[in-house]
Amino acid sequence: MASSNYIMVSFFMVVLWSCCCVLSDNTTTTPEKFYQCICNNSDFSEPFPTAFFTPNDDTFNTILNSTAQNLRCLVPSVPKPELIFTPMTEPHVQAAVICAKQLDIQLRVRSGGHDYEGISYISDMGSPFVVVDLSKLRGINVDVEENTAWAQAGATVGEVYYRISEKSKTLGFPAGLCTSLGVGGHITGGAYGSMMRKFGLGVDNVIDARIANANGTILDRKSMGEDLFWAIRRGGGASFGIILSWKMKLVTVPSTVTCFTVAKTLEEGATKILYKWQQVADKIDDGLFMRVIINVVDKKEVKGERTVQTAYNSVFLGSADTLLQIMNESFPELGLTQKDCTEMSWIESILYIAGYPTNTPPEVLLQGKSQFKNYFKAKSDFVRQPIPETGLEGLWKRLLDEDSPLMIWNPYGGMMANISESETPFPHRKGVIFKIQYLTLWSQPDQELATKHVDWIRKLYNYMTSYASMFPREAYVNYRDLDLGMNKNVNSSSSFAQASVWGNKYFKNNFNRLVQIKTKVDPENFFRHEQSIPVLPPTFTRKRKGKRSNH
Ligand SMILES: Cc1cc2nc3c(=O)[nH]c(=O)nc-3n(C[C@H](O)[C@H](O)[C@H](O)COP(=O)(O)OP(=O)(O)OC[C@H]3O[C@@H](n4cnc5c(N)ncnc54)[C@H](O)[C@@H]3O)c2cc1C
Ligand SMILES: *[C@@H]1O[C@H](CO)[C@@H](O)[C@H](O)[C@H]1NC(C)=O
Ligand SMILES: *[C@@H]1O[C@H](CO)[C@@H](O)[C@H](O)[C@H]1NC(C)=O
Ligand SMILES: *[C@@H]1O[C@H](CO)[C@@H](O)[C@H](O)[C@H]1NC(C)=O
Ligand SMILES: *[C@@H]1O[C@H](CO)[C@@H](O)[C@H](O)[C@H]1NC(C)=O
Ligand SMILES: *[C@@H]1O[C@H](CO)[C@@H](O)[C@H](O)[C@H]1NC(C)=O
Ligand SMILES: *[C@@H]1O[C@H](CO)[C@@H](O)[C@H](O)[C@H]1NC(C)=O
Ligand SMILES: *[C@@H]1O[C@H](CO)[C@@H](O)[C@H](O)[C@H]1NC(C)=O
Repeated sequence: MASSNYIMVSFFMVVLWSCCCVLSDNTTTTPEKFYQCICNNSDFSEPFPTAFFTPNDDTFNTILNSTAQNLRCLVPSVPKPELIFTPMTEPHVQAAVICAKQLDIQLRVRSGGHDYEGISYISDMGSPFVVVDLSKLRGINVDVEENTAWAQAGATVGEVYYRISEKSKTLGFPAGLCTSLGVGGHITGGAYGSMMRKFGLGVDNVIDARIANANGTILDRKSMGEDLFWAIRRGGGASFGIILSWKMKLVTVPSTVTCFTVAKTLEEGATKILYKWQQVADKIDDGLFMRVIINVVDKKEVKGERTVQTAYNSVFLGSADTLLQIMNESFPELGLTQKDCTEMSWIESILYIAGYPTNTPPEVLLQGKSQFKNYFKAKSDFVRQPIPETGLEGLWKRLLDEDSPLMIWNPYGGMMANISESETPFPHRKGVIFKIQYLTLWSQPDQELATKHVDWIRKLYNYMTSYASMFPREAYVNYRDLDLGMNKNVNSSSSFAQASVWGNKYFKNNFNRLVQIKTKVDPENFFRHEQSIPVLPPTFTRKRKGKRSNH
């Protein structure tokens, strides 16, 4: 008896001693309970302020703001998390899932913070929530023998590109143009960049992943199975689990690539040239990514008047000579010349297309910082038939009405057309000529201003209806747009029907398969947000099962 008491006592002493997590025997607030629960369920044993931030802390706003890209989502009227937790190891993430479940609190996951509607750090669903911010999980391991890399979710794509180029000048990875994107959220939604026409998207080039599922269990490709591995490759962020890391298959890039940016205003014949671009952009050499950035600028000739500018912002996987030949043959209207072209290494082209000033050292990528932040609202369209010149003219009129409009047209074709619509949940493949991203930017927190700009972009989107893809009108899930609809009542049996509206736009026919997989792996709908994949209500599932067994 005595000895077993002794063992018990020393056991508790060891527990108390090794864990400085016990705040008091009276932890009443959710953050305190969450903290204790994390300590109870992982090896976490640091003091509260090392990884937990509540709105009362001085550092809370610094952490919340750190990677939040859309300032519109940070204004005071927007709901704030009760707690931000920054896990340092995978087991801390597992514990976060277990604890959010145990304490019945909604969980949001943030990697790079670039979500267009901020749903990685805000919640519109009316209940308290915690943010698990993965910014401390940013390890990258490049294996040049195997031509692969593992990257943790909190790393930025810029860091991944840098670590690859550090080891090899002829290897790369085809993901986003903006270098501060987080590996976790970005790849989960597709991830296009300047090599998409040659190699496809980031999701087309990942070969394994580690995720924490709704039970907090860590799974890799083998243990999760091919259905779930299919779903997490662009089933949209945070519906199936928390991505801990991705394994990427690296691609071969030439030692010399060529970049150019050629701008044409309306006065310089922009409309006709852009009409021609629509005939060639998806058919031209797979190594050429020629996007068009469209905005409004002051006229050079007439002071105080504005005009529309179209800038052809491009990366070619090859030499300037070859590029000039291709352009001369297929797109002479742009008038590209030798002096427009700059030859450089692949990593330099990453800095070029991301908009860094010439001669910025690539080490800047290791800072993992975004270059600019605005208040913005964005929408997207896929175009399957060239927009006629009259349509373009109507578009210019609308752009000229707005303070800071921006459109980015990004060509498809090449490898994008060679991958079937159901290969991954990303369905915008064959037949897409280009994708449009519409943006309106502003620089003040003012709510009236926000409403005015949001109204403008909604009207623009209406105007574009007849030129965009139809049945469904497709949209890019990584350009999240809550105007398309959202999950309001997660328990309502109509949520599947509601979600189908935006689900079909983002995923086309793949939406149904995503719902089936979601229902199987997360039946309690633990991973949920405004546009998460819904689960089928139990009666619906039974009916379906019944139906299937009849066949
Ligand atoms: C300036 C800018 C430039 C962009 N450029 C490109 C581009 O070139 N190409 C392109 O394809 N897209 C681009 N995007 C869109 C971008 O891919 C998406 O916004 C993407 O979701 C960002 O991922 P993140 O990790 O940075 O964002 P976050 O806001 O952290 O996350 C986005 C979503 O994914 C979820 N999520 C985050 N981490 C995880 C995780 N570890 N596991 C599961 N779910 C997670 C979040 O909860 C949220 O729903 C751009 C966006 C911005 C703002
Ligand atoms: C426990 O919490 C309650 C409510 O916040 C408080 O009134 C009480 O004083 C606390 N007790 C101790 C021992 O901290
Ligand atoms: C943590 O563990 C202790 C000791 O077992 C227990 O008393 C406490 O309730 C737990 N707290 C949470 C939040 O899980
Ligand atoms: C965070 O962002 C908000 C909104 O832009 C701003 O008002 C606040 O000053 C910022 N705080 C910090 C500490 O960066
Ligand atoms: C462009 O093509 C024309 C004929 O198609 C040819 O005469 C001209 O030399 C070419 N120019 C360049 C720079 O290749
Ligand atoms: C796409 O398929 C076509 C036809 O099979 C082929 O010619 C082309 O090289 C492929 N493109 C890429 C980038 O693989
Ligand atoms: C949904 O249903 C579950 C279980 O019935 C319940 O615990 C939860 O509070 C409900 N959530 C909402 C938002 O109604
Ligand atoms: C979670 O755990 C429960 C109980 O052990 C089990 O029935 C269920 O299948 C698990 N779910 C997942 C997604 O692993």
